[in-house]
Amino acid sequence: MNKKVLRNLSYGVYVVSTWDTGRATGCIANSIMQITSSPATIAVSINHDNYTNACIKNTGKFAVSILSETTDPAIIGTFGFQSGKDVDKFASVNYALKGYLPVVTDSTGYIVCDVIDTMETATHTVFLGEMVEGDVFESAAPMSYAYYHEVVKGKSPKNAPTYIAEEDDAPAAKEKETWVCSICKYVYDGETPFEELPDTYVCPICKQPKTRFKKQ
Ligand SMILES: Cc1cc2nc3c(=O)[nH]c(=O)nc-3n(C[C@H](O)[C@H](O)[C@H](O)COP(=O)(O)O)c2cc1C
Repeated sequence: MNKKVLRNLSYGVYVVSTWDTGRATGCIANSIMQITSSPATIAVSINHDNYTNACIKNTGKFAVSILSETTDPAIIGTFGFQSGKDVDKFASVNYALKGYLPVVTDSTGYIVCDVIDTMETATHTVFLGEMVEGDVFESAAPMSYAYYHEVVKGKSPKNAPTYIAEEDDAPAAKEKETWVCSICKYVYDGETPFEELPDTYVCPICKQPKTRFKKQ
């Protein structure tokens, strides 16, 4: 079985948001697809360990903010590499309330859903959501998962359903010595060889300082 074929599937990059007893929260997900048109339903797969999973189960609602190629990559760092258990993610991100749910305004648009069914896998819950509200914010191109990897140079953590496929890239990545962010695994993309990162350097994805970078 050649798991590399899974890389030929296409995805977008989204913030899946909901409420945590009065506090907005959410996480990044790429695993979203439309299932039916009438009524409009979508499915999203959320890891059991993600705080967002329990919060969606509690509220029975979630929203999807569709990130664009012009979305600040730090939003992916905030929502994709930290947990709402520890951090108030929406405290540093502009959002609007749509259908009572928080949606990221730096996005191409949003979809608000009521959960109508769930399916448990060994690691993830698949939430089936019926669209109850949605709109387009701006005409910027939606960010594809491929664009996130190839242009933004971002990585995916282990809770992303596509993580295992990316692990296969590790040997190739080791061939060239470079600086790697210890939080989000962003690989420094500047001039090489580079003995020391500039003091003012911050990770473009998760905004961590240069002290969080390790030479690999
Ligand atoms: C590009 C990208 C795609 C991701 N896709 C998913 C996904 O589809 N499902 C999932 O459960 N986690 C996914 N994640 C991981 C979660 O966003 C991450 O584990 C997050 O820290 C969970 O936050 P929470 O504990 O507040 O829910 C993805 C992360 C990134 C950066």
